[in-house]
Amino acid sequence: MKIDLNATLRSHNTFGFDVLAEHLVHVTDRQEIPLFVEEAFKNKANWTILGGGSNLVLAKNLSGYVGLIATKGRRLLKETESHFYVEAMAGEVWHDFVAWTLEQGYLGLENLALIPGTVGAAPVQNIGAYGLELAEVFDSLEAFDTQTKQWVNLSKADCSFAYRDSIFKHQPHRYIVSSVCFALPKKWQANLSYAELAKAFADEKEINAQAIFKKVCEIRSAKLPDPNVIGNAGSFFHNPIVSNDQYLLLKQQLPHLVAYEVPFSSDQNKAWKLAAGWLIDQCGFKGYRQGAVGVYDKQALVLVNHGGGTGAELLQLAKEIQQKVYERFRVNLTIEPVIFQ
Ligand code: EPU
Repeated sequence: MKIDLNATLRSHNTFGFDVLAEHLVHVTDRQEIPLFVEEAFKNKANWTILGGGSNLVLAKNLSGYVGLIATKGRRLLKETESHFYVEAMAGEVWHDFVAWTLEQGYLGLENLALIPGTVGAAPVQNIGAYGLELAEVFDSLEAFDTQTKQWVNLSKADCSFAYRDSIFKHQPHRYIVSSVCFALPKKWQANLSYAELAKAFADEKEINAQAIFKKVCEIRSAKLPDPNVIGNAGSFFHNPIVSNDQYLLLKQQLPHLVAYEVPFSSDQNKAWKLAAGWLIDQCGFKGYRQGAVGVYDKQALVLVNHGGGTGAELLQLAKEIQQKVYERFRVNLTIEPVIFQ
């Protein structure tokens, strides 16, 4: 295991915040995961796991041990009559993995193209975009349980997936994901449930997974900043879920409110997901800049570091946005990425 002392994490978080890791441990082999944990425990030190650093706000230096998961490998694990079971190691870059599955003819991940980050980080926030959530194609994962010091296999139910949420957010210091297995149906069906995608393919007769992949890449690149060019962590807030009563009240005052009915909510418990980007946009924040940090000018849900900003500055801006949105709409916005402060 290669260990760097007091190493900058600037190129290991997509905001590009320049904070230090006391011990930066490069984990390139699955077997190094328990060794990493042992090292931290032996020294009675804190430990943190980083994947691609694409869903983090680093607002302080990280003491103790920071494990940078860089394990590689992907393969067809098994196939049944109905499904391909495809596995990737945690350190694989998510988008490269998606592209590889399509090249191999294992279809079904195309709607999740171009999401930054690694395979191991994907279940943590149950990544989702353009009508598909990871949970829908997830089979199981292997993780090291730092409590029992055992390798475990976790099923979908074990992971308690919900909207941008999982057991890994609730028990952040328990599991270290080593590989993830996806169950991809052999009988492929285009998922055009997201309005923008449906519109893009409205006049197409032949739709294939590659075309959806390409279109998702196009839409994402047009709306979301490339972290290699401008620091960001994708959507900064959850899209808030409100009751039917609150929705009706808001809709009355704001006829243009953008909201989607939460699927599977029953008639009595109807719930609505509001487009947080729209709420923030309405408060005039789109393109707003406060020193080196700001709000992206093409998508108000994305906060950015123009260069040289700090996590603390970004969190201050986030607080201001939360306050304004609450004052105006009485809706609470919760921060989506994991915060270290
Ligand atoms: N909108 C505005 N102004 C804005 C931004 C959005 O008016 O500045 C309105 C538009 O009407 C737009 C609607 O809000 O149609 C929804 O916007 P968009 O389609 O861009 O999606 P989103 O709700 O902002 C969510 C996810 C994204 C995901 C997209 C596509 C969350 C928190 N965000 O964004 O996920 O890519 O849908 O499925 O659920 C991420 O989690 O990091 C992420 C990028």
